[in-house]
Amino acid sequence: MHGDAVVTRSAGGYTSLLVMELAELRQQVDDVKARLRARLDEVSDPAELEAFRVEFLGRKGEIAGMFKQLGALPQEQRSEAGALLNGLKASASKAFEQRRSEGSRKAVAERLAREAIDVTLPGRSRPVGHLHLLTQVQHEIETIFLHMGFDVASGPEIETDYYNFEALNIPPDHPARDDWDTFYIDDTHLLRPHTSPVQIRVMEKSSPPVRIVCPGRCYRRDTQDSTHSPVFFQVELLWVERGLTLANLRYVIGLFVHEFFGPGYDVRLSGDFFPFTEPSVQLHMREPGAGKWLEIGGAGMVDPAVLENVGYDSESVTGFAFGFGVERMAMLKYGVKDIRTFLANDLRFIRQF
Ligand code: PHE
Repeated sequence: MHGDAVVTRSAGGYTSLLVMELAELRQQVDDVKARLRARLDEVSDPAELEAFRVEFLGRKGEIAGMFKQLGALPQEQRSEAGALLNGLKASASKAFEQRRSEGSRKAVAERLAREAIDVTLPGRSRPVGHLHLLTQVQHEIETIFLHMGFDVASGPEIETDYYNFEALNIPPDHPARDDWDTFYIDDTHLLRPHTSPVQIRVMEKSSPPVRIVCPGRCYRRDTQDSTHSPVFFQVELLWVERGLTLANLRYVIGLFVHEFFGPGYDVRLSGDFFPFTEPSVQLHMREPGAGKWLEIGGAGMVDPAVLENVGYDSESVTGFAFGFGVERMAMLKYGVKDIRTFLANDLRFIRQF
């Protein structure tokens, strides 16, 4: 059963099954097994493992090459030889699979070790910002009035002379203009020195009943000191409806002081003058037991002339308005002694609230 030798592969170190006896094949299988084991032991990364697979188990690999030559064996030896080669292929595949899963297990273990997190370490706390005390106070004031049924409104900080003065019953050249040390931008535009122009803007756009509060920034040509700032916040309150009187004003202010500062405060009205209210009052409050009256803002019944300016019938509706400083409220409630502190951006102050 010797035929012509056909060289199919030389790298494997064998020539052709044609020249081999079964015993020789057995020897060769053992030899390949030993070689592939040795090769597998040297594999150290996935690329090398793949090269191993191609070399031994690939479609054109060594084992496939050996299968190709089965046909050259005598019929009666083919099944035994086939079984031998199948055994070789199976053990090579098994060894390969084992190595591969070891490899991936190792890779997972390495990755776990590399990316391990010590969950017992204390966390790094990141500083979280918060709203400025003035914003908090403004929101608190809004909430109190929202609960009483007032809407929150706003208007522009750059106002016209008309809304800021004229519509509020302060004609050009009226001496009362001096009460507001106003920054003018040009002849007709200015930085609003109070939030009262928002009263006009809201009433122009709606009909009674009107119930609004308007918090907003205001500007005055004031020299800075512990109680004055050229920029500050005011809240305007306006309620217009049939039958309102000064008693309603007093009640609303009393309720606000109770909600904002706490129980036990007294509220007092004393005479004042504003061109847009008649009568006009100054509002004071007194801490429980403290004896000293503190001014909290100006107020009054909306002047009929103002109601007529926005087309309301001053015979059938009345209203009251109230204007107060947000900084002043915050200073009284939180014991802040100097209004400049609010704008100084000193974190030691800001973080306290
Ligand atoms: N606008 C007035 C001021 O800033 C305050 C005020 C508002 C007075 C509403 C009466 C009514 O001085």
